Amino acid sequence: MGDMFRLDGKKAVVIGGAGSIGGAVALGLAQQGAAVAIASRDLQKLQDKARAMEEETGSEIAAFSVDVNDEKNVIELAEQVISRFGTVDILVNAHGANTKRPAVEFEADAWDALFDLNVRGTMFSCREFGKIMVKNKSGKIINLSSVRGSRATLWGGNLGYCATKSAVDMLTRALASEWAQYNINVNAVAPSLVAKPETWATRTPEQIEKYLANIPLKRVAEPRETAGIFVFLSSPASDFITGQVIYLDGGLTAVA
Ligand SMILES: NC(=O)c1ccc[n+]([C@@H]2O[C@H](COP(=O)([O-])OP(=O)(O)OC[C@H]3O[C@@H](n4cnc5c(N)ncnc54)[C@H](OP(=O)(O)O)[C@@H]3O)[C@@H](O)[C@H]2O)c1
Repeated sequence: MGDMFRLDGKKAVVIGGAGSIGGAVALGLAQQGAAVAIASRDLQKLQDKARAMEEETGSEIAAFSVDVNDEKNVIELAEQVISRFGTVDILVNAHGANTKRPAVEFEADAWDALFDLNVRGTMFSCREFGKIMVKNKSGKIINLSSVRGSRATLWGGNLGYCATKSAVDMLTRALASEWAQYNINVNAVAPSLVAKPETWATRTPEQIEKYLANIPLKRVAEPRETAGIFVFLSSPASDFITGQVIYLDGGLTAVA
């Protein structure tokens, strides 16, 4: 039981690894002994985070720049990670965003950009790192979904986001099925609201109250509370779990 959650010797990639959830996940994986590559567009931010995480954990943290909207960029990232680490055992797709619009105002460009980042970017990354895992006949992939992949809101604006996260859920299930023969586990984690500095600044007290009314635990998550499930899904403790969307939601989907 003791070593079931350890990741010593494992090589992980966290896309969006300097972000709110991705940063907590990268730190959690490194604390369990994995070497971690964090990647996104802002290289300076990644390098600062990497240095701090390396100091805190003693694990190797590498920073790479990637724009997942650019297919060639994602291919190059996989090459760079391989030349640095030799292989990849764990992939976390923790990039993503929400563009809120009333449905009747959703322009094609905003719609396409959201699908490019949340869905196409996730697929490219699964495909490129999946190639390595298929060769290895081993791997763990965890995608970031959201409660909005299966639950709409009573208030509007989330149409595009809901549709992209629903696509991430099915991408996860379909890949889990296709790659089961290669011993690759593919799962998704679907949070409700995870606090970031702008979480409170961009919502009125009334909106927050309305939001918490649907959460049995009556609070939002702290970023550090997200790491545990990703460690579990990256570790041997979850070897028989694949194709699942795991809700990290304070109970929201139990009641809504
Ligand atoms: N926070 C929540 O309440 C919540 C709830 C449910 C689900 N989620 C999901 O969890 C994931 C992470 O959210 P978060 O709250 O951690 O957001 P965040 O702090 O804004 O982090 C998002 C990350 O994505 C990266 N990114 C954005 N565009 C990119 C691109 N084109 N290529 C590569 N990387 C890109 C950003 O880095 P750069 O700017 O450096 O590129 C950033 O590190 C998202 O998929 C989100 O939908 C979040």
